[in-house]
Amino acid sequence: MKDVLDKVVEGSRAVAIICNQWGDTGKGKFSNLFAKYWADVVVRGTGGNNAGHTVVINGKKRIFHLLPTGIIYDKDGKINILGNGMVLDLKVLCTELAELDKERISYDKLMISEDANVIMPYHISRDLDKDASSKKGGIGSTGKGIGPCYTDKIARRGIFVRDLLKENILKTKLEKVKSFYPKVEIDSEKIISDLKPFIEKIKPFVKDTITEINDFYSEGKKILIEGAQGLLLSIEYGTYPYVTSSDPSLNGTATGTGLCARNIYPLGIVKFPFMTRVGGGPFPSELGGEESENYCAEGLEHDIKFELDKYKIPFEVIKGNVKYNHSHPNIISLMNSKYDFEKGIGIRLAAEEYGATTGRPRRTGWTDLPALKFATYFNGMNIILTKVDAISGAKKFSLVESYGEEKFSRDCDSLRFRKPIFKEFEGFEKKISDIKAYDNLPNGLKDSIDFLEKTIGAKVKIVSVGPDQNETIVR
Ligand code: GDP
Ligand code: IMO
Ligand code: MG
Repeated sequence: MKDVLDKVVEGSRAVAIICNQWGDTGKGKFSNLFAKYWADVVVRGTGGNNAGHTVVINGKKRIFHLLPTGIIYDKDGKINILGNGMVLDLKVLCTELAELDKERISYDKLMISEDANVIMPYHISRDLDKDASSKKGGIGSTGKGIGPCYTDKIARRGIFVRDLLKENILKTKLEKVKSFYPKVEIDSEKIISDLKPFIEKIKPFVKDTITEINDFYSEGKKILIEGAQGLLLSIEYGTYPYVTSSDPSLNGTATGTGLCARNIYPLGIVKFPFMTRVGGGPFPSELGGEESENYCAEGLEHDIKFELDKYKIPFEVIKGNVKYNHSHPNIISLMNSKYDFEKGIGIRLAAEEYGATTGRPRRTGWTDLPALKFATYFNGMNIILTKVDAISGAKKFSLVESYGEEKFSRDCDSLRFRKPIFKEFEGFEKKISDIKAYDNLPNGLKDSIDFLEKTIGAKVKIVSVGPDQNETIVR
């Protein structure tokens, strides 16, 4: 596999797995695959525990929010780094570490950047207060304090990981921050004493990771960058203000790891032939349009159990995971409904599109090529397609070919009114997760991949046909 992946990345020493859409495209699966077979070092550079990265190995599922997915290969000598561009909630980090302790998974070689910023309780209060989380019209932030923490960083009052190691500096900084949070009580003594056990826990791992990673690069180690969020959620390039507060593009991710973007080979992930969005904001190809947007904005009221119950699909809950037959006849008939809103629900159920971090239903629509073209400006032309297996049973599927005379726009007031022009393809009945050779994929699917490549000039290098590592076709 190592040689195959080397060929995919054309011999590069640093590779970024980044998302070309609104997140949740399978970065977890592919970061973990590269971590296992290819990388010496795995690093995250942006975001915080707003991310939810799922990894499935031999049927066992894990979700990572902060730690790079390569952490499970620490025992094999892999180094995992939380980079300088991240925002860290220490409690969440320590909970993830405690889960590894429970499973006796080592993390001896973990490094935490002294330059990362720290999410404080007042950031979380502000985030929940500001956005009223996921209700209609809001950005639908994950409520983890991401936006307020990055705001403080940009406003030059951020608290760095290195500040945690010097109590007097931490106290002074917390006192200074108080005036910016008039509605929240900031008791610096209490914050410090609550943080103390977490600080003790992470202290041995705190490093100058910018120097470390550049040394690793010079020594010839292979570095895998695990992106978070997605290009269309970028503060710089995304559908502002319905975005996150970091820049998950290749450039932004490079900044957050301390590496020069020029040395990094980007692999952009694209969910295909449907895409998703969780949270607010325009989504021109959304199945069911405004009806779907409003329905999904109700968040957990329309979660997975609600939808399974409503459409009479039997399920079991095993160790907190909901298990059901993704090809249940009721799901297939929803996918083939003549009503787009129902079709969207069918795809959500077939592909199990519910937030890995919040459990909210993800809005679904056909993959949007004008939006993807825009993403390739920043993330390059090398593409991984994921979840193509999920629509098996749909008689037809579509892609957004264009918006007529108009282009993709970051201006949400315009984007909301773009009229997608769809190109329709033949669906496929059979399950495709066990296919190993590209040529054996159904013809309609291959036609649509050719169409994507011709329309935007990109190269599809890998096609993912299931959540498990071995359900992967390298072209
Ligand atoms: P991330 O945030 O980009 O890491 O993606 P998430 O983990 O939030 O969501 C992707 C979901 O799709 C996870 O449940 C994965 O296990 C799953 N997944 C990834 N690739 C595939 C695929 O090719 N087919 C199917 N059916 N599921 C996939
Ligand atoms: P991964 O890494 C999908 C979305 C939220 C919201 C907006 C702002 O798993 O792909 P924030 O909490 O960052 O202030 O929320 O961004 N969002 C994501 N959507 N996947 C993610 O991460 C996301 N991280 C943030 O739903 O609309
Ligand atoms: Mg996710």
